[in-house]
This record gives sequence, C-alpha cells and structure tokens, in this order.
Amino acid sequence: MQHLIEFFGRTHLVLLHFPIALVISAAAVELWRAWVMNGKGTKYRPSSGGTLMFVLAMLGTIVSVVTGLVLGFDGGERVDLHRILGIVSGVLMFITWFMLVSVMKNEHKSGVAYLVMLCVSAASIGATGHFGGDLTHGEGFLTEPLKELVGIKEDPRVLEAEALGISQASVEMFELSVLPIMERSCVECHGPDEAEDDIRLDTLAYVLDDRVQTVRSGSPDDSELVYRIELPHDDPDIMPPEGDGEPLTGDEIEVIRNWIASLD
Ligand code: HEC
Repeated sequence: MQHLIEFFGRTHLVLLHFPIALVISAAAVELWRAWVMNGKGTKYRPSSGGTLMFVLAMLGTIVSVVTGLVLGFDGGERVDLHRILGIVSGVLMFITWFMLVSVMKNEHKSGVAYLVMLCVSAASIGATGHFGGDLTHGEGFLTEPLKELVGIKEDPRVLEAEALGISQASVEMFELSVLPIMERSCVECHGPDEAEDDIRLDTLAYVLDDRVQTVRSGSPDDSELVYRIELPHDDPDIMPPEGDGEPLTGDEIEVIRNWIASLD
C-alpha cells in the first residue's frame, strides 16, 4: 500500500504537464476568439474547443493538486511557493468553472468575466509550474543560460565570500597563495583522506570552520595554526610534524599571517 501511494504521488511529475499546456492553450484560443468577435462587433462567448480544453485542464489540475500533495507529504509541513500556488491554482480553476457554467446557462451573458478568470488561472498555473521546476531542477534552472548569455553569471568566489562573511580579496588571496602551501605541507594529514585532530585544511570553508577555530580572523598571533607552524623545528608540536615534511619557510609563514590578518 505504501508503495502504491508513493507511485501515485510520483505520477505528479508526469501528469502536471497536461493542465499547464491545456489551460494556457484554452486561454490563448479564447483570447483569440474574443479578439475576432470584438472585431465583428459581436459579444464574446466561449468556443466549444476552448471549453473542452478548459474542462480537461480542470480535471488535470485536480489530479495534479492531489498527487502533488501526496508527493509533498513526506516533505513535512514545509510551506513553499510551489505548494501554495498549486492550491491557489486549484481554487482559481473552480471559480473559473463556476463562471463558465453561469455563461452556459444564460445565453445572453457575455463570457468576458470567464475569459479574465481563465487567463488569471493560466498565469497562476504557469507560475506554479515554474516554481515546481525550480524544485526539481534547482532554482533559476530556466534562466541560468540567459544570465550567462548576458554576462551576469554569478562568480562562485563572490558567493563564497558572502557565505563566509569575508571579503572577496581574502577569498582570492587564499586560493592563490595560501591553499598551495596547505596542499603541499598539510592536506596529506588534514584533508579528505585523513583529517587528523578533526581538522581539514583543503578548502577555505574548512580552514575557517568555527568548530575547530585554528584560525582567528584578523589575529594571526592568536591563531593555533600560526602557533603550530612557527614552533622551533625540534618542538614535538610543530606542523608539519618533524620527519613528516619540511617546516614552512619564513616567506610561507608571512603569506599565511598576512592572509589571516586580512580576514575580518
Ligand atoms: C603527517 C601528518 C600531518 C601533517 C603533514 C600536518 N599535520 Fe597538523 N596535525 C597532525 C596530527 C596527528 C595532529 C594532532 C596532534 C597534535 O595536536 O599535535 C595535528 C594537529 C594540528 C593542529 C592542532 C589543532 C588543535 O587546535 O588541536 C593544527 C592547527 C595543525 N595540525 C595544523 C597543521 C598545518 C597548518 C599543517 C601544514 C603546515 C599540518 N598541520 C600538517 C598531523 C599532521
């Protein structure tokens, strides 16, 4: 039973395409018709083709909302834009349905209010689909190639600097000057293969990891990392440990000190 429910929920990803295409097509057909009828000076009334598309779109919307709620059920009570818009779209489609029925019942009534609601529903369903796409493909999936086209590609360094709360210059300095030293002398023991003392020095985020605090932003003198590399060569605490690599040179230590001083 559990598997059947799961399967049912996942059909959402197939079925959702029908109402999106149908409701947008229905709106396009009816807009075209309204424009033509307006040209002829006659009152707009829904066409039978557009009406059929709308009715199918409504059935598709009901199924998509239900399967979507089942699919999203595991996600706990997370309230995201896609889910809210999906439910709003379902309600809008019902309102549109009632307007259609009232136009059908009364031969003399114009269908303009129905047409407006149909377009609002189509926009809402289109937006729901867009945010759903962001959920499955990652945010901005659709527009990413366009951003690259016009050159507003987001620099990963800018993003990293923002995430870590340091300047972009410090990020660049780390990558250009500090990381190569770490890779040569430290990463063998403080990296992905072996993280001695729970310390990794192979990425900026790890070096600045609050949990270990080997680096004190802005204060090289208070940083354990600096203390360890500046110890006398025969000190048992020196890094890299005696016999496991050459002590860092004065220049290398200076680079690391300057970098830590640049953080803030
Ligand atoms: C051969 C392996 C090895 C290499 C290479 C090495 N380390 Fe270590 N490191 C260790 C071990 C083991 C410890 C834990 C024992 C200790 O604290 O001395 C440690 C501990 C540390 C600590 C102590 C953190 C704390 O607060 O407890 C720091 C800081 C550190 N290493 C920095 C470095 C730096 C910087 C480099 C490169 C310049 C480096 N290590 C290279 C093995 C290594």
